[in-house]
Amino acid sequence: MKQRVNGTTLFVQDQGQGAPIILLHGFPLDHRMWQSQVDALSPSYRVIAPDFRGMGQSDVPVSPMSLTHYAQDILAIMDEKGIEKATLGGFSMGGYVALALLRLAPERFSALIFANTRPEPDGQEGRKNRMNMAVNLYDKGPAAARDAMLPKLVTPATLQDQPQLIDDLRTAMDSMPAEGLVHASIAMAFREDSVELLSSIQVPTLVIAGEQDAIAPPDVMKAMADRIAGAQFHVIPSASHLTPMEKPEAFNDLLFSFLQEITP
Ligand code: MLT
Repeated sequence: MKQRVNGTTLFVQDQGQGAPIILLHGFPLDHRMWQSQVDALSPSYRVIAPDFRGMGQSDVPVSPMSLTHYAQDILAIMDEKGIEKATLGGFSMGGYVALALLRLAPERFSALIFANTRPEPDGQEGRKNRMNMAVNLYDKGPAAARDAMLPKLVTPATLQDQPQLIDDLRTAMDSMPAEGLVHASIAMAFREDSVELLSSIQVPTLVIAGEQDAIAPPDVMKAMADRIAGAQFHVIPSASHLTPMEKPEAFNDLLFSFLQEITP
């Protein structure tokens, strides 16, 4: 469904009933990356999976974005839906937005899931790469992001053995508005350092890594989990970056055992 918030129109999937769980997608993707999790969780929970501004079916921003702006959109969605508190899950860029949300309104989140993300900001080289990505997006459209990201999202074995998944990913990435991805690239390039923020987290937290993830490697994610009091840390075997789609069963098993522990 479309939802009008903060002067823009966002697409928000809202499925199921029960305790709310908000799932934030990665780059260059949208809410569809969570389909397996929505299917698995929505019989028992209310699952809310928005498209960030400028991605998927949400309107493209008209002025520069920061991760704080994306986070403000999520808070506005919660307000609009009357959701005071939720479990918050973020994959990669969605994890950066989750960290921005913790900076803005930690009291709104009762549990956290960080998948394939990292708390450190980009260095100069990383920022330069994102600026190049922005230029390429103007030159080549969303194919620029698709070509750069696809080989990093899944393992070579999955690339070869799961043509349907790869096809769905291509379709999703090719449907992104190029300028929306430019905004996301620049916002990620200048994201804040969230390392110190981690020690302020006081709610149950699940941290999930992919064994072969080169974007957010397991050792980076382990160091992230180690800074969060009581956090659970798991590595999904034979998975690269996009664990929720590449290994949905293993991912959902981790989600369920975590959610059952915190809301028996
Ligand atoms: C993502 O999956 O959201 C991106 O890999 C994040 C990033 O480029 O830092």
